[in-house]
Amino acid sequence: MNKHTTTRKGVILAGGSGTRLYPLTQAVSKQLMPVYDKPMIYYPISTLMLAGIREILIITTPAEQPRFKELLGDGHQWGIHFEYTVQEEPKGLAQAFTIGADFIDGHECAMILGDNLFYGFNFARMLQSADKRKDGATVFCYHVKNPSAYGVVEFDDSGKVITIEEKPENPNSPYAVTGLYFFDKKVAMFARDVAPSARGELEITSVIDCYLQRGELYVEKLSRGTCWLDTGTHNSLLDAASFIQTVEERTGLKIACPEEVAYRMGWVSAEHIMEIAIPLRKSGYGEYLIQVVNEVHPL
Ligand code: G1P
Repeated sequence: MNKHTTTRKGVILAGGSGTRLYPLTQAVSKQLMPVYDKPMIYYPISTLMLAGIREILIITTPAEQPRFKELLGDGHQWGIHFEYTVQEEPKGLAQAFTIGADFIDGHECAMILGDNLFYGFNFARMLQSADKRKDGATVFCYHVKNPSAYGVVEFDDSGKVITIEEKPENPNSPYAVTGLYFFDKKVAMFARDVAPSARGELEITSVIDCYLQRGELYVEKLSRGTCWLDTGTHNSLLDAASFIQTVEERTGLKIACPEEVAYRMGWVSAEHIMEIAIPLRKSGYGEYLIQVVNEVHPL
């Protein structure tokens, strides 16, 4: 694994009422639901960590914040630092930059949605290249069967982006914008100025469009060898869990294990991982951590 650390700040948006998953999410936040063997939020946290990000703001609903804190603490166990804040009402993704303005404090930032899972060949390298680009915005798009459920990017024949539209009825392309965004320092300013959309939300696509209009938008197509899953419905949640189970059972390697990422990035010691592992041995998660520190030639 490429060791990489950045001063870019990370933001995870884990608010929202999760109504499409009712009754599952009536009492527990969607991002605390299991995706096979770990809570959903471990996946976006690991993604930001793989990008080299060590300062992360977690935005939740007011009611759910204590449970996130109980699970994740201040992050020192993974060699990182978590801060927490709340989104009082779900007014749109772009609101994260105004809510998080003090935390971002004029740095570059990366935002990831708490229900987005990424996995695939060379993905960490891709994240780290996006991090190294200090000007403009980088977003990742993915070929999907149902683009109208997402933000959609349209390309011209030369591969240049021409439009970006939120949930178009008649999409001009099969490329959905995934819920992972790298922004330069201008994002807070753009987010402040966007107007609510027809559905009354401050759309992230409006912020991305500001970058497109200025010629400062970079769109990376995730290859077929990469997997992007979201977990907003009962079926997609089950599909994601089955996918993770299949790959983990076959390889004996875990996807999105924050302890492993922290260790391989050189942010925590082997002794520290062993300490975490012992109380977790019964679930097999602890055994895995012991395997991680004992493996001689890791992938
Ligand atoms: C949001 C964004 C959309 C993006 C999607 C990715 O939609 O608004 O542009 O494609 O996340 O998961 P939501 O899932 O909040 O409806």
